Amino acid sequence: MNGRPARRSRVLRSVVAALFAAAWPASFAAAQFLPDEIARRAECEEFLRTAEIVEVRAIGEGITRPKKVILRKGGIEKTAVWKNPEERDGDTLDQWRFEIAAYRLDKLLGLNMVPPTVERSLDGRPGALSLWVGRTLNLVQVVEQNIVIPPEAEGAFNDMKYVARAWDCLIANDDRTQQNVLYTSDWRTILIDHSRAFGCRGEYGRRLVFGLNGIKTAEDGRPFLFRRLPRRFVRAIERLDLDAVREAVGRYLKNDEIKAVLKRRDILLREIQAMIADQGEDRILYD
Ligand SMILES: Nc1ncnc2c1ncn2[C@@H]1O[C@H](COP(=O)(O)OP(=O)(O)O)[C@@H](O)[C@H]1O
Ligand SMILES: [Mg+2]
Repeated sequence: MNGRPARRSRVLRSVVAALFAAAWPASFAAAQFLPDEIARRAECEEFLRTAEIVEVRAIGEGITRPKKVILRKGGIEKTAVWKNPEERDGDTLDQWRFEIAAYRLDKLLGLNMVPPTVERSLDGRPGALSLWVGRTLNLVQVVEQNIVIPPEAEGAFNDMKYVARAWDCLIANDDRTQQNVLYTSDWRTILIDHSRAFGCRGEYGRRLVFGLNGIKTAEDGRPFLFRRLPRRFVRAIERLDLDAVREAVGRYLKNDEIKAVLKRRDILLREIQAMIADQGEDRILYD
């Protein structure tokens, strides 16, 4: 009698853990979108490109003043976010084309953490249109509201934090604020807002954003590390080459920007190799 509640909660926890495991396809590098969402991505892109825009609203958040857009086609309605920051006076900080490049690179790597994004004009101005991921909390809300991550989701929560850091290193994302990390109700991690990535000038071409020698550190100077990574993700990064990246991102990245991705890839792999040499492959890479 006495041992029952503990046992029941253990059983419940392992059932939840099993459901979590079942929800995430093991065949991808990190995969936080569900298998069905991943399978229907081309369909989703087509919808974003061709559905009728029935409503446009200000979001009221974000420095690039993105808009929330309601789309309708064939009786189906979806929400999306449209943004169009562009090169101004040589200022290349935020650009809408980087949102599309990030999504395409996410697909190439099998990361599957970035919402489907296409080019779409609004009122005659070109921009990036991304699928709105509903019913999410961002990391600011999780932290400020002291939301407790359930124990069965904690491991994946931390692992995806490390994956996001490695991803941001690869693409030199300068803007991974806590607002730009979303969590679904079952604690899958979705990464948004890549309009300030792909810098290739100055330090961004030579150093990683995070990691041991990262450009960004915590206030007390501690590095933001990627402590362990999915083996498939690391292998997918290893396989990247100029042609594959160019084919994936099309005209949404310039040659120098693609070369900078590959240069940062080399730095990232060197850091991962050093971690493996130091701690052993079993502690750094997982399947
Ligand atoms: N795909 C998305 N799904 C859900 N919410 C989103 C999505 N994209 C943007 N948002 C919401 O809009 C806000 C601003 O968008 P974001 O792309 O971060 O613009 P900015 O570059 O101006 O920060 C985000 O903080 C988030 O609340
Ligand atoms: Mg943002």
